[in-house]
Amino acid sequence: MADPIIVGTDGSAAATAATEWAADDAARKGCPLRLVSVVDHWAYGIPKFPAGAGDPLTVHAERALAAAEAAARGRRPEVPVSAEIVEGIPAKILRDKAGEAAEIVVGSRGLGGFAGVVVGSVSTHVAGHASCPVVVVRPGWRDAHGEIVVGVDYSPECEPAIAYAFEQARLRGCGVRAVYAWQLPVHTLAPEISYDVEELHETQRRAVSEKLAPWRRDEPGVPVREEVVFGHPVEALTEASERADLLVVGSHGRGALGSVMLGSVSRAVLHHAHCPVAVVRPRR
Ligand SMILES: Nc1ncnc2c1ncn2[C@@H]1O[C@H](COP(=O)(O)OP(=O)(O)OP(=O)(O)O)[C@@H](O)[C@H]1O
Ligand SMILES: [Mg+2]
Repeated sequence: MADPIIVGTDGSAAATAATEWAADDAARKGCPLRLVSVVDHWAYGIPKFPAGAGDPLTVHAERALAAAEAAARGRRPEVPVSAEIVEGIPAKILRDKAGEAAEIVVGSRGLGGFAGVVVGSVSTHVAGHASCPVVVVRPGWRDAHGEIVVGVDYSPECEPAIAYAFEQARLRGCGVRAVYAWQLPVHTLAPEISYDVEELHETQRRAVSEKLAPWRRDEPGVPVREEVVFGHPVEALTEASERADLLVVGSHGRGALGSVMLGSVSRAVLHHAHCPVAVVRPRR
């Protein structure tokens, strides 16, 4: 059987939004859905509540799973759903589920955090470390635009993101908009360096076309728009996400250091995007 789509469920509104998005995606992909609620009795090394049947954390997790299961079945009755309570550290448990998941879907935030938090620590960690695609969903999402936006750059790291975007577009019968944003490097100590911006822009445009050529060839049914923007990638992708059903980014680009698990662009768009965001890294 196909690997399941795994949803992290903590009973929050965002987790419900994630469950609904994941149910739709499971229906599209023909794979089962697994709802996972992680119970952390040992937060801070102190048992907050004794573990066992009837303890308040387990009862909460059972309720969260039952509500999520009802939401998934109500939305996509044809999708097989299973539910599981796991004891441990939520971010770590969910991250480690990547090996058995087609993808992991989480809410942008959960029950914790302070009022102003936009993306919680669990979703940030999972997006930064899981080896499978991770989709972060906000409450209020809806598919309304018929286009998937993918952020591209020169790095080979963005290729799994392009593949994911084309797969989503094919399954949904919609188009792909590939956005590459570039800026001139800043040389404060060498102001005499000058650039032919028009020519550079044209070179970038050709490079993006070449990058997308294999997918254009393999997915002839998917309409593609290529866009080269002069500006900062976070700004360009955030703006593009206003008219997208999904924004797909790689985990990091050319500028990333080896130890960086989530590049600055991916991290920032998780906070600013107006639609669900998929972070896709090469499978290890
Ligand atoms: N205990 C858990 N079990 C399963 N999934 C979880 C759990 N905690 C969080 N998640 C998943 O992660 C998403 C984001 O929650 P997260 O915990 O990151 O945000 P938060 O609670 O607002 O902030 P923080 O916990 O960092 O203070 C949730 O919507 C849910 O999908
Ligand atoms: Mg939390």
